[in-house]
Formats: sequence, structure tokens, C-alpha cells
Amino acid sequence: KTEELETLLGAQPVVPVLILDDAEVAVPLARALHAGGISTIEITLRTEAAFEAVRRIVEEVEEVAVGVGTVLAPDQLERAERSGARFWVSPGMSPQLLEAARHCVLPGLPGSATPSEAMALVEAGYHHQKFFPAEAAGGAAYLKSLVSPLGEIRFCPTGGINPTNAGDYLALPNVACVGGSWLAPKEAIAAGDWAKIEGLAREAVNLRKA
Ligand code: 3PG
Repeated sequence: KTEELETLLGAQPVVPVLILDDAEVAVPLARALHAGGISTIEITLRTEAAFEAVRRIVEEVEEVAVGVGTVLAPDQLERAERSGARFWVSPGMSPQLLEAARHCVLPGLPGSATPSEAMALVEAGYHHQKFFPAEAAGGAAYLKSLVSPLGEIRFCPTGGINPTNAGDYLALPNVACVGGSWLAPKEAIAAGDWAKIEGLAREAVNLRKA
């Protein structure tokens, strides 16, 4: 599971975090992101349309791996498996979710924001973790100070990351990739401006590690 996650997250410096109100846009959006060089995306389970959006991309845009994000409850893991998602992401961790994840075939990226949380996740077998909410919790400087004591953990920081600060995170040895919603602005989705989104994706892909 760890290796699979490593491959999915390592494919690009930025994983787009998508909040979709309408499953109709899922396929053209995924195609636009892929045209810009993105092959792994996260669809958050914050909207009714989320699982339908995942299913459509799984069926119609095979070249893009979809993960489900904002997983808070055990039953969402079962639905994620059935939807064809390749991985799951959570803003944090909870005893119930961790127990359910032991029975889930998908690799997961649970969240941590303190050394104690990060250590508890390592004990549960998670060497890849989402660092959330990245900017508010202390940003790249905070994450940098975990390199020495907790060097074996690979983080995917998310929350408040944009093209200006993404490079600070990507330069750290404990960052696998960053996550962010900026690649798919609501207005661009509403307008069906796929060229704009393709451009944002290309720009993000070029934020190579220093
Ligand atoms: C997440 O769930 O990871 C965040 O909502 C994404 O954060 P951003 O919108 O600040 O990029």
C-alpha cells in the first residue's frame, strides 16, 4: 500500500484538491488537468456529487488516478472502494477511522498537524501523511523542523498552499507533494474554462522540486 501511494503521489509535485458541485464537470475537468500534466487528483467528499464524479472519471478518464478526500467516517471507505477510487485522504485521524482503514484495500493518507499525531500515525503504519492545515499550522518552517526528529515521514501539506508558497514546501526533504484547490477555481469550472485549468495545471507541474 505504501509503495502504491508513493507512486501516485510522486507522479507530480501538486495534487489538485477538487470540490465538485456537479458531476457533469468531472470528466472535462479531469481531462483538462491531465492535458496540463496531472495524473493524480483528489475529489473531496464534501458535496453530494462527489462519488458520482469519482465514478465518471474512473470510467471515462482511465489515465487519471482518483483519490477521495475529506474522509471522516468509516462507511466512506467502503463507498470509496466501490467507486473505483485508488486512495483516500483525511484531514486528520480518529480511532474509528483507523480501525476501518485496516480492513480497506486502498492506501490512505490520514492527516496530522503535531508531532504526537504524526507519531501515532507512524505506529499505525502510515509513513505518508497529509499535513493539514499546512499554512495555518505553521507552514513550511514548521514542517522543516520535523525533518530531523521525524525524518522517516513523508508529508503532503495541504491548506492555504498556492503557487507562491508551494516551492517552500517542495524544497523540503520530507515533502512528497503538496495539495491545493487553486488548480480548479470555482469560476473557471462554472464557465467551463478548461483551457484556463489546463494552464494552471501546467504551471503547477512546473513547480519542480528545488
Ligand atoms: C483540503 O482539504 O486539503 C483543503 O481544503 C485544500 O486547501 P486549499 O483550498 O487551501 O488549497
